[in-house]
Amino acid sequence: VDDDDMQFIKMHEHVSDLFHHILMHTNEGSEALNYLLDRGFSSELLKKEKIGLAPKMSSFTKNAILEKGFTEEAAYSAGLLSRNETNFSYYDRFVNRIMIPIKNHQNYIVGFTARSLDGSEPKYLNTPETKVFQKRHLMFNLSDARKSIRNQDEIILMEGHLDVLKVKSLNIENIVGLMGTALSEENINLLNRLASNVTLMFDGDGAGQRATVDIGETLLKHGLNTFVIQLPGGMDPDEYIENSGEESFRYLVKNEKRHYIHFLAEKLLNESMHNDLAFSQNINTLTDLLTYVNDDAIRTRLIQHISERYGMDKSQIESKLPVRTSQKR
Ligand code: GTP
Ligand code: MN
Ligand code: MN
Ligand code: MN
Ligand code: MN
Repeated sequence: VDDDDMQFIKMHEHVSDLFHHILMHTNEGSEALNYLLDRGFSSELLKKEKIGLAPKMSSFTKNAILEKGFTEEAAYSAGLLSRNETNFSYYDRFVNRIMIPIKNHQNYIVGFTARSLDGSEPKYLNTPETKVFQKRHLMFNLSDARKSIRNQDEIILMEGHLDVLKVKSLNIENIVGLMGTALSEENINLLNRLASNVTLMFDGDGAGQRATVDIGETLLKHGLNTFVIQLPGGMDPDEYIENSGEESFRYLVKNEKRHYIHFLAEKLLNESMHNDLAFSQNINTLTDLLTYVNDDAIRTRLIQHISERYGMDKSQIESKLPVRTSQKR
């Protein structure tokens, strides 16, 4: 963290305080505050996470920054202001949005994800890439989750920032959010250093399912024990908690944690039933993935499961596996 970095961080800490005050204690903030309370985010949580509102003004952030003695240029480089490229004037990047601060691994606020309130697109606007906000190095809520991740040796990974916050309010702490939909090499290495087990709990919609398939494969192949919790009815974690209740959510987390290969085997089963080519390819896909399972007990269980569901002898599946070289981590 050098001087420039610290300046970016100070600007973010300052405007976060202002945004938070506007949300919690002003008339301008009351509509957004009610929206969040209605969605089941408690004022305690909003306070703890320093959630805020960027007001419906084009120069609120700009003026706040100038009053504090920073320059417009610096605020632009920090991603707080945008620039009109014809007359080079600066204006606020975030207008009429719920501001969710994003902290780096040292627990400093380095950026925002900002949700629109009036249906304007994009629904979520992030801080652009800056010197201190590099998405490939960041994971949402990691600085808060780290201790619990170490204690439990498990990371629960989610797509949405509001999903992470809602689940956090149930005192489930070992949760981190993806920054966007991609998982960087840096993210993977970081997850790998933190825990041996990762559980994916993405949105139950099509996009979430596809992300589960892709990211799960990547994590498994990088040596993590990868599990999946599937949410019914296309819901995301936040919606599930609001619709089905906290107890039902806790039940899922406790009892519906399938190994990634178990999840994938179920997913591929339908298309395999009346398509022999797909059947053969899918069996190969699954057996190839089995070579990345280090835990013998889970491996045996997965072979058992696949053999039952796909109507094959266990020995047929085992014969497809390459002879194991000892590659324990
Ligand atoms: P809510 O209505 O607030 O609950 O959001 P959602 O559940 O519809 O969010 P969605 O499932 O669409 O998005 C999950 C995550 O994807 C968000 O937390 C963002 O990180 C990201 N995301 C969604 N929409 C956008 C977008 O328009 N731009 C960017 N950059 N990211 C987005
Ligand atoms: Mn959406
Ligand atoms: Mn989604
Ligand atoms: Mn949602
Ligand atoms: Mn969602």
